Amino acid sequence: MGVPLRLALLACVLAALVPAPGLMLDILEVSLEGGSTDYLEVGANVDYSLSCEYRTPYDDPVKEVLWTRFGKPFYKWAGTGSPTVLDIAFLGLVNSSPEKDPQNVHFIAPLHYNLAGTYMCQVFTNKATTNASYTLRIVDAGSWPIVMTVEALGKIMSENDTDTASGSSDGGDGAGDSGDIDQNKYEVNQTIGNDIDVGFEDKDCTLVWSLSTPAIYPRPNVTCGHYSFDHEDVVQRLPAGLTLHKYPNGSWTASFSNTHIQVSSLPKSHRLGCSIRIPNTSYKMVVRPQDDLWVESLIDTGGCSGLQDVQERGLIVEMRDATYTCRGDVLPASRSGPAVATISCPESYTAIFPDNPRKTWGGSLELSCAENDVGWRRYTPEETMRLGDLMNPDSLPICVRGHSGAASHSGNLCSITLAVTLVLGWLFHV
Ligand SMILES: *[C@@H]1O[C@H](CO)[C@@H](O)[C@H](O)[C@H]1NC(C)=O
Ligand SMILES: *[C@@H]1O[C@H](CO)[C@@H](O)[C@H](O)[C@H]1NC(C)=O
Ligand SMILES: *[C@@H]1O[C@H](CO)[C@@H](O)[C@H](O)[C@H]1NC(C)=O
Ligand SMILES: *[C@@H]1O[C@H](CO)[C@@H](O)[C@H](O)[C@H]1NC(C)=O
Ligand SMILES: *[C@@H]1O[C@H](CO)[C@@H](O)[C@H](O)[C@H]1NC(C)=O
Ligand SMILES: *[C@@H]1O[C@H](CO)[C@@H](O)[C@H](O)[C@H]1NC(C)=O
Repeated sequence: MGVPLRLALLACVLAALVPAPGLMLDILEVSLEGGSTDYLEVGANVDYSLSCEYRTPYDDPVKEVLWTRFGKPFYKWAGTGSPTVLDIAFLGLVNSSPEKDPQNVHFIAPLHYNLAGTYMCQVFTNKATTNASYTLRIVDAGSWPIVMTVEALGKIMSENDTDTASGSSDGGDGAGDSGDIDQNKYEVNQTIGNDIDVGFEDKDCTLVWSLSTPAIYPRPNVTCGHYSFDHEDVVQRLPAGLTLHKYPNGSWTASFSNTHIQVSSLPKSHRLGCSIRIPNTSYKMVVRPQDDLWVESLIDTGGCSGLQDVQERGLIVEMRDATYTCRGDVLPASRSGPAVATISCPESYTAIFPDNPRKTWGGSLELSCAENDVGWRRYTPEETMRLGDLMNPDSLPICVRGHSGAASHSGNLCSITLAVTLVLGWLFHV
């Protein structure tokens, strides 16, 4: 038996089983076409349409497609020709002579958020009728850009140095916002020199963060906090002083201004940002401020550990040629050489090496931290052109009170070295 014959037989069997008119009138789907499928965005440069996808029996063609919103008819297509707009409220909002698919509702820009609602597509044939509904959600969030700024407090204050120099806090300019910054709270110790520690002061480690959104409809869910580049989203919420304000027309605006954030509270390779979601839609917008190199360098600076854990073991850490990042890490104070840490035991304490009690040291250990290095290394004089070994914290001694034989020996060495140094210093200075 040939294939065509078999198909013909199958068709006969089916025709016998299924009563005429063969297929039922059926709406497969009512959907939004154009941009996102679950909301219509006002201001998006997109041709949106509400599509009613149906199938009719072959012998009972469609006679009418009627669209209602909240039960009120506004658009009708009579099976052929052009559709008719039935509700004057929709005149100019929907296309009454679409190039194709006249059974569907084609929205005309500019769109308006009062198009939201429950729409129904009703399909009529001579013998049957059916309907299906669709809830159209509208998002209106693009009337003007979202403004977010993050700046270093230190930069703001240095830009306005002339204002701050007077030290007065009366804020006579009447702007209001400047009053949020307590100018007396942040001292700047401007001691810059080769051997002097240059610290990042509090004001340099404080970010000043502001947000203001345009009118957004409907009420948005705004989450502000730590933005992660990995997730491309806000991963840790901060209260930030965010307030939502409702306009008489039902739109909302979200804002906060001059919120102070400590750089050290922000994980590296994170930024400050907000995500704006519209509940019950997939609408999501993530906002971050324009990249500010100053802020980025404050957040992402590397550096070697501040050796707090070493100090906790009872060792004395003295830094030179060092500056501290906002996270308390150490960086070289200048480009000419590394930061150097000298580790020693307090006076009348002895170093004991847990891994080797017989081991001694010269009373101290010098470590260096070069720019962009991964950590502290044993200090090697620059002439050797060789990197010292990375510091292994386990190789550091603990300090115990008293003198051991070995330690007093090294203590003597130490005082001899000290004496020689003093004599030499005296000789060279005179
Ligand atoms: C829509 O269809 C349902 C069930 O098919 C029916 O009960 C209802 O009356 C219809 N609504 C309209 C407005 O035709
Ligand atoms: C500096 O002060 C001026 C007015 O005194 C103000 O308009 C400006 O916003 C201030 N700059 C910053 C970064 O705060
Ligand atoms: C600045 O120096 C003074 C005196 O040396 C000191 O008391 C003050 O704590 C320093 N300020 C900061 C922010 O380190
Ligand atoms: C708002 O969005 C955050 C995620 O950004 C979510 O965790 C939270 O549940 C949402 N809140 C509401 C009320 O939808
Ligand atoms: C609602 O009112 C606000 C404030 O007047 C305005 O900025 C916004 O454009 C209005 N929204 C609409 C959709 O008219
Ligand atoms: C969102 O959906 C939930 C249930 O899914 C409903 O209770 C709530 O009213 C809806 N919110 C809006 C704004 O439509």
